[in-house]
Amino acid sequence: MDKRVTVLDFQKKRDQGEKITVVTAYDYSMALAVDAAGVDAVLVGDSLSMTMLGRETTLSATMAEMIHHASAVSRGVRRALVIGDMPFLSYQLSREEALENAGAFLAEAGAQAVKIEWCPQAAEVTEFLVQNGIPVMGHVGFTPQQTNRFGGPHLQGKDPRSAALLLKQAKALQNAGAFSVVLELVPPDTAKKITKALKIPTIGIGAGPHCGGQVQVLHDLLGLLPDFHPKHAKAYLNLHESIRDAVKLYADEVRSGKFPQ
Ligand code: KIV
Repeated sequence: MDKRVTVLDFQKKRDQGEKITVVTAYDYSMALAVDAAGVDAVLVGDSLSMTMLGRETTLSATMAEMIHHASAVSRGVRRALVIGDMPFLSYQLSREEALENAGAFLAEAGAQAVKIEWCPQAAEVTEFLVQNGIPVMGHVGFTPQQTNRFGGPHLQGKDPRSAALLLKQAKALQNAGAFSVVLELVPPDTAKKITKALKIPTIGIGAGPHCGGQVQVLHDLLGLLPDFHPKHAKAYLNLHESIRDAVKLYADEVRSGKFPQ
């Protein structure tokens, strides 16, 4: 069995100029496939609220749902680093509650790290979790849990002032001990500056090619959602159509008596 990827490998790859690959997964069967593909990390994103549960935003994802899905993913992943995404209000209320919830991702769900989105408490919470043995991935730029404040998924860090704010947030997370920072919907130039200024790796999504690595939502890569095609994603398959056609063929064969034989 291959050795498990750790947060130290993230840093090693960044220092050696090697790109880091991260993808989301939310269940056992997909976890088996993405781990077999050899990605460095699997993020059990709170995007599951949209991709798996059909909601409009990530805001209603609960700890119970996240632990349920993260446990299934951990059972399927043997090599990649499994990162549990802390849902809305699971880390903002107090650092003790954050520790209890982050701890559940490691102790109950079998993850090896957690991700938290930027909020005023993010640096303090990160430091507390890291000191207690829980590796933290930060997340700045468009942070979907603040979609109502941003008025939707819009590019952040476009002007010098907001770019400087993102850099300040990313540095605060680095100083607090985060092992990497996701940059979501950030102009490539801004992402490049942040990536150069940090010692830890940046992981981009809609942030151009200069980040230390990339993260994508699995459903976007596979073309699983027929009416959702974010500009920053590339669909390598149209799995929605493949599934529809296979199931239609099955139903046709049952109706015609061709299956079972
Ligand atoms: O929940 C998620 O899938 C994420 C990625 C988009 C980074 O946070």
